[in-house]
Amino acid sequence: MLSEVVTLISEEQLKARTQQIALELSKKFAGQKVCFVGILKGSFMFYSDLIRSIDLDMTCDFMGLSSYKGMVNSSGEVKVTLDLNTPIKDRHVVLVEDIVDTGLTMNYLKNTVLSRKPASLTTVSLLLKPKALKEPCTVDYVGFEIGNDFVVGYGLDYQEMYRNLPFIGVLKSLN
Ligand code: IMP
Ligand code: MG
Repeated sequence: MLSEVVTLISEEQLKARTQQIALELSKKFAGQKVCFVGILKGSFMFYSDLIRSIDLDMTCDFMGLSSYKGMVNSSGEVKVTLDLNTPIKDRHVVLVEDIVDTGLTMNYLKNTVLSRKPASLTTVSLLLKPKALKEPCTVDYVGFEIGNDFVVGYGLDYQEMYRNLPFIGVLKSLN
């Protein structure tokens, strides 16, 4: 049976903030072509809402990463489950993540992408847990800063469940 989920960020709040970030990205890259890279699986819902509100020439690509393996605490290891399908050398790349927790995944991603010599790299994360960072990690656009509670919904999972919720919530049984 599914545990009780308490709303932390509503559908309306998600929509409004996503549109703000989309506008800022549209302005930043006006007149340029951009490759938007979604980090699977967690960012799929945020990614699709974000790019639908962006008015730019763009291509879409994805990387699959997993650091949790069904557990609540980060193992610190990052497993690449899917690599980019297209070269990004000399391209403007925007990385779209669901959440930065310890920062290990985002830092790993940045290093991987930068080693392929893109024209520029911009990072976006829907959520950031500033108090959970284990190493310094700067993110260019953050949707919401949250506390250390484990959250689910809007693409984020607990043991692969709850991704379909249209809002971000806290799992009562875990926090
Ligand atoms: P980090 O490497 O510790 O920053 O973890 C990043 C990844 O862990 C995210 O992309 C998520 O997939 C997962 N993660 C971290 N915190 C949460 C959470 O509160 N709920 C669901 N997934 C999380
Ligand atoms: Mg993720």
